[in-house]
Amino acid sequence: MYEDLDRPPLQPRLLNRSLPPPWREVRVLEEIGSTNDYVAALARQGEREGLVVVAEHQFLGRGRLDRQWVSPPRAGLTFSVLLRPPVPPATRPWVPLLLASAAARALSQRADLDVTLKWPNDLQVGGRKLGGVLAESTGDAVVAGFGVNVSTRRDELPRDDATSLALETGDVVDRGPVLLALLRAMGPAYTSWSGEPADAARLYRERCDTIGREVVVTLPGGESLEGEAVGVDDSGCLVIRAADGTTTAVSAGDVVRTRGRPSSPGA
Ligand code: BTN
Repeated sequence: MYEDLDRPPLQPRLLNRSLPPPWREVRVLEEIGSTNDYVAALARQGEREGLVVVAEHQFLGRGRLDRQWVSPPRAGLTFSVLLRPPVPPATRPWVPLLLASAAARALSQRADLDVTLKWPNDLQVGGRKLGGVLAESTGDAVVAGFGVNVSTRRDELPRDDATSLALETGDVVDRGPVLLALLRAMGPAYTSWSGEPADAARLYRERCDTIGREVVVTLPGGESLEGEAVGVDDSGCLVIRAADGTTTAVSAGDVVRTRGRPSSPGA
């Protein structure tokens, strides 16, 4: 039995029907600390690529930059996928970005919203955070963990600039079909990728809303960089042009503020 009718449990049988490659199995766990930790441990034990692990509740969910990912039981999708991309290690960081681009496309179609990416891989709607991706490597495996707010109510969201599919659409959203839509978009995006960074970069840039905006980026060391985000290069770095014209390529950081594109004031 479950108490909240807007939050039905996931149905593993339905989720495991007609999964496209590389997905082999969707495993639903009632509760776990972090699906990323669970999948990374299996990866180290030799688990093959294509496993998807979803948690109905995560009690130690992790976000990028040592943050937490908090979501009430069954309010969102919290899942991790295991891939062993046959590409050079330097190209692996494109895998989560490629998956995030496909996820943004799938969510846009499914919920009839304009879901874009805030560099590097926040899923957002109108500047509000809908979800995020935490990618980690272990050996030749990439573990990409996704958190997506689905039926989360405003008072349950951890920050003011976060949102959920239910808040954006004003509708009850069932997580099962959303998860399937994500896997059905991410699978072919991954299997059809040539492994060429430029191809992943092209798909990524189509969805990335940070490019062309005035931004402030906090770097992992704590310093900030301010300027116009002029592009994302073929290594996945955000390229910032400062007021004095110098450009810096940033490989990790947090875009803490964005202002409209210079060509479209007020955006
Ligand atoms: C972020 O935006 O900071 C990334 C959030 C990623 C959260 C997901 S939820 C499933 C997976 N397991 C984790 O511990 N984290 C990721």
